[in-house]
Amino acid sequence: MALLIRGMDMAGNFHRICRADEVVEGSVKTFKINDRAIAVARYEGIIYAIDDLCTHDGGDLSEGDVVKGDIQCPRHGARFSLKTGKATRMPAVEDITTYEVKIENGEVYIEME
Ligand code: FES
Repeated sequence: MALLIRGMDMAGNFHRICRADEVVEGSVKTFKINDRAIAVARYEGIIYAIDDLCTHDGGDLSEGDVVKGDIQCPRHGARFSLKTGKATRMPAVEDITTYEVKIENGEVYIEME
């Protein structure tokens, strides 16, 4: 299903979550989409969206820190690439899910079924 936003077609199911200026550099926020917790972070000006769930033991990644393009879990220090979701530091070995982000007229949209 396509979402029509101010005259622009977006393929896929994009959900508006917030204004882009609400996600400041280095910050992490959490939003619910279809009962799923999504962490949204900004690093070097780019906004990323990931599952708000550490694959090591279920930590809330939205309570972690952005470190050199990774999100660091507050529980045991595992890290994941914000861009790819790849687990980059133990104790996590399983990657996290990332979501496509679009910015349109200053609003943040995340693609999710
Ligand atoms: S729960 Fe995230 S590192 Fe353990």
